[in-house]
Amino acid sequence: MATCREPATASELEDLVERHPSVTVHRLDVNDDEQLDDLGGVIGDEPIDFVVHNAGWARPGGMLEVEYTSWALALRTNAFAVLRLAQAFVDNVARSRRRAIVAIGSEMGSISRTESGSRYAYRSSKAALNMIVRTLAFDLGERGVTVASVHPGWVRTRLGGPNAPMSPAECGELLAGVLDELTLEESGTFLDVHGRPIPW
Ligand SMILES: NC(=O)c1ccc[n+]([C@@H]2O[C@H](COP(=O)([O-])OP(=O)(O)OC[C@H]3O[C@@H](n4cnc5c(N)ncnc54)[C@H](OP(=O)(O)O)[C@@H]3O)[C@@H](O)[C@H]2O)c1
Repeated sequence: MATCREPATASELEDLVERHPSVTVHRLDVNDDEQLDDLGGVIGDEPIDFVVHNAGWARPGGMLEVEYTSWALALRTNAFAVLRLAQAFVDNVARSRRRAIVAIGSEMGSISRTESGSRYAYRSSKAALNMIVRTLAFDLGERGVTVASVHPGWVRTRLGGPNAPMSPAECGELLAGVLDELTLEESGTFLDVHGRPIPW
């Protein structure tokens, strides 16, 4: 199940559905509770092996440009939505075979690896994402649900820009490998796209 904000204009997802007819596309703005409820209605009691929170808000922003409206949106999209998705779908995940919730984090959310300034909203929202992942791992461990944050690397997307070394396809393949190998023992960790831990 793939989700996006505007299925009507999501031509890349349409191509994916053509190549893989089992893929279904659903509308979801991760900050919209009503849309989350609607998706919950569509999914019903179906088990979900992996919930992947990939939606990301990112804008450049130096110390003097930061303003609270976009900062709040960064926190909602990148961090709070991880918890909202977990709230909405934890029962489906707990009912599945693989039982995992994965948030696409960023090395820019690593406090110990921060060695330059700027990007306050993005960095702080990704650091908050990591804290939510770590805390959820404790709350959901009893139900056998693994929760992890994965940094995808520098990828040639709208966010990563044209100079990034990795294509989205390469990144997707590596991410699928990390998901395949993920175990409950790794719950509450922050991993790179090769499955290696990143310092908080
Ligand atoms: N690319 C990199 O080098 C890199 C590095 C580290 C981490 N990441 C992380 O990887 C993830 C994917 O990023 P990307 O590189 O693909 O960035 P991107 O090209 O900017 O894409 C971001 C995606 O998030 C979606 N989105 C934003 N707000 C949303 C919301 N409220 N509800 C649902 N979807 C929403 C956007 O949807 P619309 O198309 O509707 O705008 C877009 O599809 C992000 O979490 C990002 O922080 C990327």
